[in-house]
Amino acid sequence: MKEHDSILVLDFGAQYSQLIARRVRECGVYSQIVPYTISAEEVRKAAPSGIIFSGGPSSVRTPGSPRPDAAIFSLGIPILGICYGLQVMCEMLGGHVTSSGRKEYGLQSIDIVDRSSILLKDVSDGSSIWMSHGDAVDSIPQGFHVTAVTPTCPYTAVEDAERGFYGVQFHPEVVHSVDGDKLIRSFVLDICKAKADWNMGSFVDEAVEAIRKQVGDRRVLCGLSGGVDSSVAAVLIHRAIGDQLVCVFVNNGMLRKNEAESVLDLFGKHFSMNLQYADSTDEFLSALKGVAEPEAKRKIIGKVFVDTFYREARKCGDISFLAQGTLYPDVIESRSPSGGPSSTIKSHHNVGGLPEDLKWELLEPLKELFKDEVRALGKELGLPDELVYRHPFPGPGLGVRCIGEVTKERLDTLRDVDAIFIEEIRKAGLYDRIWQALADLLPVKSVGVQGDERTYREVCTLRAVTSEDAMTADWYRMPYDVLQKAASRICNEVAGVNRVLYDISSKPPATIEWE
Ligand code: XMP
Repeated sequence: MKEHDSILVLDFGAQYSQLIARRVRECGVYSQIVPYTISAEEVRKAAPSGIIFSGGPSSVRTPGSPRPDAAIFSLGIPILGICYGLQVMCEMLGGHVTSSGRKEYGLQSIDIVDRSSILLKDVSDGSSIWMSHGDAVDSIPQGFHVTAVTPTCPYTAVEDAERGFYGVQFHPEVVHSVDGDKLIRSFVLDICKAKADWNMGSFVDEAVEAIRKQVGDRRVLCGLSGGVDSSVAAVLIHRAIGDQLVCVFVNNGMLRKNEAESVLDLFGKHFSMNLQYADSTDEFLSALKGVAEPEAKRKIIGKVFVDTFYREARKCGDISFLAQGTLYPDVIESRSPSGGPSSTIKSHHNVGGLPEDLKWELLEPLKELFKDEVRALGKELGLPDELVYRHPFPGPGLGVRCIGEVTKERLDTLRDVDAIFIEEIRKAGLYDRIWQALADLLPVKSVGVQGDERTYREVCTLRAVTSEDAMTADWYRMPYDVLQKAASRICNEVAGVNRVLYDISSKPPATIEWE
């Protein structure tokens, strides 16, 4: 790992440690998050170019609050303290922090009072910064001076450039701090002088090495869904341990058109993976017979999936690890700062409903990454663009898009509608502008006319949304001619449908999926 310069992020229990690490990675520099309890000796051995103290929920005024090894300040390595990190640094170096009892959240505009600060050289005066703190520094250690203020915070940025100590009360790592990324870049590249030679290729090498070390000669099982996350995880693990990885792909009968074939082709043939295919369509559909209520459908699909997955897993022989494509945003934080990052993070389980007594260890090689980083990694690993940039597709698949009862016939109809809609969007060159496009089949029939004949057929809706993170979404202003082509092809080519609607609801109040 020491081929690259690195920045060590000491985690004081912040919500944003990973975001700090990500901003450093964006500068082309490797960064590693470690618990704040790391000893100065271990830091010295790791020989980072710089250290960042993260924020954290504690108050330095509370006895027993987290503190780094004081000897870290004597290593001669530049340190940037963020929020709690600033406060703990000031307190330990002879300054003072006060608990005002008043919490300050939200945007402020920064007033730079020392334009010679290298840390702030690319931060515009008056630009927005994001604050979230209760305590505040009210006296700074000897050797420090103030470089920026806000109307409510006289110690917004402070530094002792001589010793390489910098601190900011705001959070430069969040996007709301408009020039925050520039501040981090100045710290990493200009102050720490780290070489920007790290990229996704380096991540692959490091991850491969780490997976080999963790797994040894044991075997890993991975549930492959054909989505980006599990695909990237599988290919990365395969690169590390080859045939020690067994993938299980469950066809629940609710996949998109040709999806099973393309997954088998790509992973089984192209990547020569050890891939076990379970076509459980009949099992899923018979369990869903007569069920129309959305939650009931979801529960059934989840249960049959887990049953199938474990049945298949038993056929795989001696397995020690379960691999998952868990990403950083899937990681639900419930951390106590004293435990450090890895010990208390709970994972969101993509497989859905892992049993309590899981006898496998979890292997989650993507859990430090954000979605766009996983996509870059997928490209680095040679996954095709159609897969890397594909729209999100829910685990229960077309089951949540067949509104009402899920039957083989209705699924076939929906598969055809969906394929035409996506094809027309791709033909128009719009696919990558859309977060997600989907079609639903409604539990409604309507009268139509085709040739000289009256028809009484199903109604489908088309939906396309733009979004950042699926938490909120806006309907996509689809050009009329694309809608016209899709609708006309659907009514002509899909036997079961004679009417097409376009959904113009945003989220909220609607959701992306209809269910
Ligand atoms: P909603 O419908 O809640 O969806 O606005 C938000 C995002 O989540 C996807 N989604 C799922 N993804 N398993 C998944 O892996 C699921 O059960 C599931 N349900 C919804 C949805 O497609 C959208 O991107």
